[in-house]
Amino acid sequence: MIISITNLKGGVGKSTLTQNLAVCFAHAGYRVCVVDTDIQAQVSTKWMGERPDELPKIAISTIRPEELAKNVLALNKKYDVVLLDGTPALFELSTRTLALSDVAIIPMIPSIADIWVFENYLRAYEEAKAQRANFNAGLSGFVLLNQYAGNNLDKEVKAAMQGFDINVLNSRIANRVAYREAMTLGKGVIEYKDKKAKEEMTQLFNEIIEGIH
Ligand SMILES: Nc1ncnc2c1ncn2[C@@H]1O[C@H](COP(=O)(O)OP(=O)(O)OP(=O)(O)O)[C@@H](O)[C@H]1O
Ligand SMILES: [Mg+2]
Repeated sequence: MIISITNLKGGVGKSTLTQNLAVCFAHAGYRVCVVDTDIQAQVSTKWMGERPDELPKIAISTIRPEELAKNVLALNKKYDVVLLDGTPALFELSTRTLALSDVAIIPMIPSIADIWVFENYLRAYEEAKAQRANFNAGLSGFVLLNQYAGNNLDKEVKAAMQGFDINVLNSRIANRVAYREAMTLGKGVIEYKDKKAKEEMTQLFNEIIEGIH
């Protein structure tokens, strides 16, 4: 199964979420590979470099965007789950990444800027979905509200998202220092000491698993 974590926008939590989902899948017994498509920053590749040996293994592969299709399909044969950590990509690259994906997770910070960008993203998503339909393949998209605080703006953004033709996950992620600290240590938050972060990530993982089956 190929799961991409993308958004046209930068800094919304794509790498954070990729790493945390990879850790959840690994603990659940899946063979997992993370594909770092961000050749310039290589955040997930560096994260993997910090990962302690005794924790459940996650493979990492850094792949140039133009070589994505061939390599990702090969990895999909070898692993149960391939997670694509996207770049704040150009429209064309987003479409290409999404066209490879069975599942698209779209992290988003509740702000009007993110909603404006999301309208463009949705065009890439619809185009990829149409391309996949030609091969009888589906694409399920799930928006995840990251750094959600439950204030009025967050609620307005959540309501606005309901107007788009895409699923919005009930599970949300709060702004917690645990996400930054766990990344520093090569871990996911379920391997770290913040109980609330652990709980929300477990809930999110369970909702995604239910949503894709
Ligand atoms: N829920 C959160 N709580 C606290 N910090 C967070 C949270 N989510 C992300 N961050 C932090 O915000 C920054 C951006 O997150 P991240 O690198 O995951 O985003 P990205 O979408 O991958 O960015 P880019 O577009 O540059 O690839 C990082 O410093 C990360 O540690
Ligand atoms: Mg990133």
